[in-house]
Amino acid sequence: MKSLAELEAIRERALKEMSLRENTGKIRVVVGMATCGIAAGARPVMNAFIEELHKRNVQNVNVTMTGCIGVCRLEPIAEVITPDGKKTTYVKLDPEKARRIVVEHLINGRPVKEYTIDEVE
Ligand code: FES
Repeated sequence: MKSLAELEAIRERALKEMSLRENTGKIRVVVGMATCGIAAGARPVMNAFIEELHKRNVQNVNVTMTGCIGVCRLEPIAEVITPDGKKTTYVKLDPEKARRIVVEHLINGRPVKEYTIDEVE
């Protein structure tokens, strides 16, 4: 039987390893692809992110999808998470907005404020 302190040490170690694995130094773009997102046009938005990144040969961004983000009426939604953990939530996206986010935020590091949830809400 391990002591509480030993268990705590094991937990700490596991958490540290996990965060090392996750922190690949890449920016993550997470697109909401629940039914509501897809109905609102999330697929073309996701494609626009991927195509624009590919066209500009950007290597340090991972585009992934997730299910429900929780605000149907603001779909399509995408979150941009930088390696330092900072999260920007973009709402009511379309392919054109996605391409602008690629250039201004993902490449030049300046979030497109007018498309963020704080501005739209
Ligand atoms: S079902 Fe629409 S955001 Fe969850």
